[in-house]
Amino acid sequence: MKILILGHKLQYEIQNVTAAFHPGQKLETVYEKQPDWDVLTYLRAGRQNSYLLLLVKTESGILRYHRRVPNSGERYKQRCETAFGQMLYTAYSDLTGVVPKWGILTGVRPVKNLQQHMAAGCDEPALRQLFCGDYRVSPEKFDLAYQTAIVQKQVLSPVDLRDVSLYVSIPFCPSRCLYCSFVSHSIEKSHKLVEPYLQLLLQEINLTFDLIDKLGLHLKTVYIGGGTPTTLSAQQMDRLLAAIFARIHHPLEECTVEAGRPDTIDLEKLQVMRRWPVTRVNINPQTLSDQVLQNIGRRHSAAQTIESFHLARQAGFDNINMDLIAGLPGDSYQGFCATLDRVLDLDPENITVHTLSVKRSADLKYSQMVRYSAQDLPVEAMLTYTVERLVGESGYRPYYMYRQKNTLSNLENVGYAKPGTEGLYNIYMMEELHTTIGCGAGSVTKMVDPRKNLIQRSFNFKYPLEYTKNFSEICSRKHSLEVFYGDLFQV
Ligand SMILES: C[S@@+](CC[C@H](N)C(=O)[O-])C[C@H]1O[C@@H](n2cnc3c(N)ncnc32)[C@H](O)[C@@H]1O
Ligand code: SF4
Repeated sequence: MKILILGHKLQYEIQNVTAAFHPGQKLETVYEKQPDWDVLTYLRAGRQNSYLLLLVKTESGILRYHRRVPNSGERYKQRCETAFGQMLYTAYSDLTGVVPKWGILTGVRPVKNLQQHMAAGCDEPALRQLFCGDYRVSPEKFDLAYQTAIVQKQVLSPVDLRDVSLYVSIPFCPSRCLYCSFVSHSIEKSHKLVEPYLQLLLQEINLTFDLIDKLGLHLKTVYIGGGTPTTLSAQQMDRLLAAIFARIHHPLEECTVEAGRPDTIDLEKLQVMRRWPVTRVNINPQTLSDQVLQNIGRRHSAAQTIESFHLARQAGFDNINMDLIAGLPGDSYQGFCATLDRVLDLDPENITVHTLSVKRSADLKYSQMVRYSAQDLPVEAMLTYTVERLVGESGYRPYYMYRQKNTLSNLENVGYAKPGTEGLYNIYMMEELHTTIGCGAGSVTKMVDPRKNLIQRSFNFKYPLEYTKNFSEICSRKHSLEVFYGDLFQV
């Protein structure tokens, strides 16, 4: 599909709204007049108003839409984006019959968007009007985002400039899942890399704590993720946690270990985590259908997931999260609901429900989805069932939410928690409330100035081998923290 962009730079918004209606289709944006366009967008700025035009070619002719947007007043760019979005929404929903639940709202962080409007003084009716009216968001999704924002307000303490969280990456997995695009290496192929990687990671962690101490930062939460951190042996996990906790002299709000794949979890590793103040673990089913697990290349059974959950309880964990994905290849509405019901029987404190995203760098391609009819799965209904069961009947509340590109039906990922067990790292990170310092391959240090809503990123090398080869460069990049906080604290 070829989109012609004339007289403006709003191509991202236009691409994103178009993609929501045309999943799996290749979109090409061009900036010079040519005859074979499918969609033409044009903006001409006049003295008082800008004139926006949208043309969409159909089999029976060209559809034409236009708007005037006043040039004066605040948020001119955003008003033009919204106007183009609304025109595209009308054209595409008439043509395709698709009515995306998130309307023309395309950002990753709908709740951050809401929170910003709330901070500017918008009350609930005004927010509802903005989201459901201007952005065409369904009342159901607005309610979910609004409830999430309210829960966040209840569980978060006021932001302090010195607050930070730490993310530690273990980029190894027992095998690669079909849908996953995370930078992770199969442990079978890269077993030899683990020990040298860990040794350097411990050094990076030490350097990070030197900087935290020097800058007087206050560490609130730690998240050990990946990949699958439990691919480490019990002894390696012990060394990692010892290195982290040797440098922390105050109680953390939370320390999570992504135990992830049940085929990497045993009682010994869980007991090691319990010896250190690890407060939260993830035991991730994704699905409790053995056939679907096989389809997605996860080499464990549903029974193993349930066994791992009980082992974690036996080890003493009282905050367990379980990740699920709606729309997996070969799943069905009944299958998804049965998974959710069985997960609820286990009574975990947190349940995170993702919508399948077909990622470019994952092994699962859109063409394979057709083989499983997965592109036609009723994911909307799966997510509606999730809210009914978790929020309506079981006392969970949505506490963080994000959206990714190329998800089925353009839907969202939501973390649900029983009150008082919310995964705080997830909120801090997703809402960009304070700095997250990343250690390890593939991690990113995201420096946040909450006063100015300013964000600066520093990237580590992606793959374990690159990481080990470029370690001195990685250490020198860490000093960007000194520059950032030097400026921040000067003001
Ligand atoms: C960073 S992954 C690590 C999880 C852990 N290694 C595991 O597999 O259990 C975190 C979560 O993201 C979700 N996820 C990963 N890829 C996804 C995709 N393509 N679409 C939807 N959810 C995805 C899965 O639910 C996964 O548990
Ligand atoms: S979903 Fe988890 S286990 Fe599977 S490849 Fe991704 S990070 Fe690894």
